[in-house]
Amino acid sequence: MVLIAPSLLAADFTRIAEEIDDIQKAGADWLHYDVMDGVFAPNISVGLPVLESIRRRTDIFIDAHLMITEPVRYASRFCEAGADLVNIHVEADTEQGILSAIHQIKDMQKLCGVTVKPKTDASAVVPYLPFVDMILVMTVEPGFGGQRFMHDMLPKVREIRKLIQDSGRNIRLEVDGGVDPSTAPLCLAAGADTLVAGSAVFHAEDRRSAILALRGN
Ligand code: DX5
Ligand code: ZN
Repeated sequence: MVLIAPSLLAADFTRIAEEIDDIQKAGADWLHYDVMDGVFAPNISVGLPVLESIRRRTDIFIDAHLMITEPVRYASRFCEAGADLVNIHVEADTEQGILSAIHQIKDMQKLCGVTVKPKTDASAVVPYLPFVDMILVMTVEPGFGGQRFMHDMLPKVREIRKLIQDSGRNIRLEVDGGVDPSTAPLCLAAGADTLVAGSAVFHAEDRRSAILALRGN
């Protein structure tokens, strides 16, 4: 089943609760929550207190995307704050550091994902395949919503789909960045099953139709 995860980054931050209710009514499956530290990504977004407030107000599944260095420092805090799934970047620490963060997340009974930036090869996810529930392929450079989809990421999506198949594990494959009704079918055809979409949902006139269009309806 294809899951649609609108990215909060494109929402009106003065009305976060209403924005989340609205996308849920429009048929969104998950909420994608982008965290940036101004070091790993050239922007600063939202962190723990905002996530705690959102968690108190809604039961939507929260897919946190940590664009922060050494995520092992904060992984369990994001679980406590209310994330249901925590994605960390393979580039953000040593393999040992990433594995420790993964185990922290699993110890908190949450789902865990690893994420690759556009310049990172598919093979970088291999050490984590036995442990993760999700692999997230960035289809833009981390930092900002509204960027243009990088079509040259599609072969990597296909490669990672193959790695997942070969692993025999049940791992979701998510894409993030520039996903809209024209690029979504390409991602799905390449093997993605979970689509993050910020601008394409939050900036749409009709969010319900936008979500249907992303699903290919
Ligand atoms: C980029 C973020 C994305 C972004 C997607 O650093 O990880 O989640 O918000 O926004 P759109 O869909 O507008 O490209
Ligand atoms: Zn993201």
